[in-house]
Amino acid sequence: MRGVGNYSSFFGKAPSIGPKYNASIEALRTVMDPKRAPAAVLDYVAGHLRDAYPRFTWVGVYRLEGDTLELAAWKGAQATEHTRIPVGQGICGLAARSRETVVVPDVSKDPRYLACFPSTRAEIVVPILGEGRVYGEIDIDSDTLDAFTAQDRQFLEVVADDLARYLKAKA
Ligand code: SME
Repeated sequence: MRGVGNYSSFFGKAPSIGPKYNASIEALRTVMDPKRAPAAVLDYVAGHLRDAYPRFTWVGVYRLEGDTLELAAWKGAQATEHTRIPVGQGICGLAARSRETVVVPDVSKDPRYLACFPSTRAEIVVPILGEGRVYGEIDIDSDTLDAFTAQDRQFLEVVADDLARYLKAKA
C-alpha cells in the first residue's frame, strides 16, 4: 500500500481511539512526510486540529530551541504574545521540563498559567518527545471549561509522537 498509514514502519501502529481521531491520525501521517518542510507540516497540523475539533479554540506548535520554546505554527482567532517561552515558565514550560502532558481543566485556578486570551478556560500541553529529547510541544487552549477528554489526550499524544518521528527524520 502507498502512504504511511497504520501499517507503516515509520510511524508504527496507532491505537484505535475512535473513528474521528483515527481518521485524523491517518490524514496527519500522510502530511508528515520527511520530504515536506517543517513550516508547512506544522502549519497543516495546527490547522487540522483547530478546524476538525471545535473545542480546540487555539492550537499552537512550539519547537524547543536551546532552553526556549519558540512558536513555530498556530491557528486561532488571535496571535499570542507568548511566542517565546523559557523552559520552566507557564504550563508550556512545565510540560517541556517534566516531559509529560499537562492538562489544566480550569486555568483560573492554576497559578502556573500564563494568560494569552481572556476567553480561555482550559489548556492542554503535550510534549513532542523522542530519543530522550524534547522537540517541542502541542499547546491547545479551549474556551470551554474542562474541555479536554482522556481521548483527546490519547489522540494528541499519538500526534505528538508522530511529529517527533517526523522532526527526527528532518534533523
Ligand atoms: N498559556 C500558556 C502560554 C501560551 S498561550 O496559551 C498561547 C502557558 O501557560 O504556558
